[in-house]
Amino acid sequence: MYPFIRKARSSDIDAIVRLNMQLADYHRKIDGYYQSGAQTADGFRQFLEKIIDDDNYLILVAQIKDKITGYFIGTISEAKPFLVPQKTGRISDAFVEKDFRKSGIGRMMFDTLLNWFKEHRVKHLELSVDVRNKIGVEAWKKYGFQEFMLKMKMDL
Ligand SMILES: CC(C)(COP(=O)(O)OP(=O)(O)OC[C@H]1O[C@@H](n2cnc3c(N)ncnc32)[C@H](O)[C@@H]1OP(=O)(O)O)[C@@H](O)C(=O)NCCC(=O)NCCS
Repeated sequence: MYPFIRKARSSDIDAIVRLNMQLADYHRKIDGYYQSGAQTADGFRQFLEKIIDDDNYLILVAQIKDKITGYFIGTISEAKPFLVPQKTGRISDAFVEKDFRKSGIGRMMFDTLLNWFKEHRVKHLELSVDVRNKIGVEAWKKYGFQEFMLKMKMDL
C-alpha cells in the first residue's frame, strides 16, 4: 500500500498527538529523563494548534488508506546570531509507526520537507537526536546529515 504524504489539517491533530505520545514513550525507554507520552500530550496538542496555520512550520503526515502512520515537522527560523547563514531549517519531530518503518515513508516525508526548505531558500538544516537512538541516528545519516556538535548533560 502506497503512503500519501500531505500537509496536516486540523482534523489530523488527534492522530498526530497519538503518534507523538509513541515518540515520547520511545524516548522514555531510552532514558527516564524524558517525559512519557501521557505527560506531554496536552502541551503538544496546544503546540500543534498554535503552529498548524503558521507559515514558518510545515507539518506533514503519511496516510495509508484512512490511517495516519507517521508525521514530520519542519520549521524555519532566524539562525543563531553567531552563524553566517541568516536562517536555519529544523526538523523538530519525526515519527513513523513501528510496523511501517523501513519502507521509505520517512524518506518520502523528509524529501517533501527538503523541497519546502529549498523553496524558502534555506541552505542549512539542523536537528537534534539522542545519540542512544540508533534508528534515528542511522536514518538521519542516510538522509545526509552529519554530526557537528556534541550536546552534554550532567546529573547532579
Ligand atoms: C526515523 C524514522 C522516522 C524513519 O522512518 P522510516 O519510515 O523508517 O524511514 P525509511 O524507511 O526512510 O528508513 C530510513 C532508515 O531508518 C533506519 N531504520 C528505520 N527503522 C529501523 C529499524 N526498525 N531498525 C533499524 N533501522 C531502522 C534505517 O537506517 C533506515 O534505512 P534502511 O531502510 O536503508 O536501512 C522512523 O524509523 C522512526 O519513527 N523511528 C523511531 C523514532 C525516531 O527515532 N525518530 C527520530 C527522532 S530524532
